[in-house]
Amino acid sequence: MTDTALLIVVLAAGKGTRMKSARPKVLQEIAGRSMLAHVLALSAYVANSSTVVVIGPEMDDVRDAADRAMPGIEVFVQGQQLGTADAVKAALPALSAHTGDVIVLYGDTPLMPPATIDRVRASLDDGANVVVLGFEPDDPTGYGRLLTDADGSLRAIREDKDASAAERAIGLCNSGVLAFRTPDLVGVFNRIGNDNAKGEYYLTDAVEIIRGDGGRAALVTCAAEDVLGINSRDQLAEAEAIYQARRRLAVMSEGATLIAPETVWFSHDTVIGRDVVIEPNVFFGPGVTVEDNVVIHANCHIQGARIGQGARIGPFARLRPGADLGADVRIGNFVEVKNATLGPGAKANHLAYLGDADVGQGANIGAGTIFCNYDGFFKHKTVIGERAFVGSNSSLVAPVNIGAGAYVGSGSVITKDVASNALAVERSSQEERAGWAEKFRIMMQRRKAARG
Ligand code: UD1
Ligand code: MG
Repeated sequence: MTDTALLIVVLAAGKGTRMKSARPKVLQEIAGRSMLAHVLALSAYVANSSTVVVIGPEMDDVRDAADRAMPGIEVFVQGQQLGTADAVKAALPALSAHTGDVIVLYGDTPLMPPATIDRVRASLDDGANVVVLGFEPDDPTGYGRLLTDADGSLRAIREDKDASAAERAIGLCNSGVLAFRTPDLVGVFNRIGNDNAKGEYYLTDAVEIIRGDGGRAALVTCAAEDVLGINSRDQLAEAEAIYQARRRLAVMSEGATLIAPETVWFSHDTVIGRDVVIEPNVFFGPGVTVEDNVVIHANCHIQGARIGQGARIGPFARLRPGADLGADVRIGNFVEVKNATLGPGAKANHLAYLGDADVGQGANIGAGTIFCNYDGFFKHKTVIGERAFVGSNSSLVAPVNIGAGAYVGSGSVITKDVASNALAVERSSQEERAGWAEKFRIMMQRRKAARG
């Protein structure tokens, strides 16, 4: 692997009008993370690299998102959108301070594998002055075409609008990813003009200029999906599908079973352990860790949760942020858990809400139990001791503590703390009238008969 430092310049000044969104395009999300953050995350996988980003004016939200994704990242503002060369030039202070190589990526192209960047980089190491990442899209319309010499070497990039009919017939296109030795790039900025169909400063013109100076231009190719640029909502969905397909394969290759992989949706940061089984129709929002040997039954929605080893979740369970489930916990159907820690072996198997709680090891929360955590103004905590047993259809009005080993009788509304090993029952006592039902039936049948 190369020792040459790589500066990644991410272009994110475009507004993306085709999204029809109030949000800048690069903040649209794939697998719960903005496209921009996906691109910025690449640098963690590319050795010896650093990243800067170019945004448009009045894009403070993009600046903030970049800073959240990569704290302290250098952000440059391109005053006017005068073309891709002008956009890269906005990062000139970073380029001037950099002695290694530079690669230009787009913030709206979120599926680039780090290995592809490594291949581009290797080509610079092999002596190229400029490297273009090319691909063959199904429909080349709109892309810059790669013009090659008889020996197959790259001569120039011709933008679609400037291309002749013969050039438009070329299927090999520019992905937008260009890499340079930094001095070569800095040297061409002032030689790129805007006398072209779009009246823009094209970064792609750099290829011909560097060639003319005697430099070598190289071509590296990749799969179309690696460089899928997102301009519209349907392309966003297409990118999501590709991303998910990759994640499912990765999760399975690391030792999890997905019974119907195409129905399981991961977040960019989902962590899945070994010998985990995930049944169909499970959705993971951000921030989920699933430890080894967990079974997630069908139709669960899980976000911001840790699921401890050997736990069984669902079917039809909802784990919300702050759900922290210990080993061998059981969460059954129609149970919602939010901001609650459950000790090892604790169970809530049917129809319950466990919010803002601490549930001790081995405790059993009966069907229909509700932790009443909210008084309309504040949230309050419910604490359930180890091995406590909460009978079905109970309401625990927080703040409240149920002691270790205590029992709560079914149907109770518990408003006061319950001592360890005590029984708390809160309901009217049962009344029974012997023979009442039979007398009632006879009386009513007579009444009905009398009415004809
Ligand atoms: C560009 C390439 C084209 C390539 C295509 C791949 C040029 C001249 N053309 O064309 O060869 O096939 O991408 O998708 O480079 N941007 C800025 N500031 C600007 C202009 C653009 O930040 O002033 C950003 C955009 O936000 C976008 C990227 O650069 O992320 C590409 O710009 P775009 O206008 O989409 O270029 P294309 O015409 O698609
Ligand atoms: Mg484009």
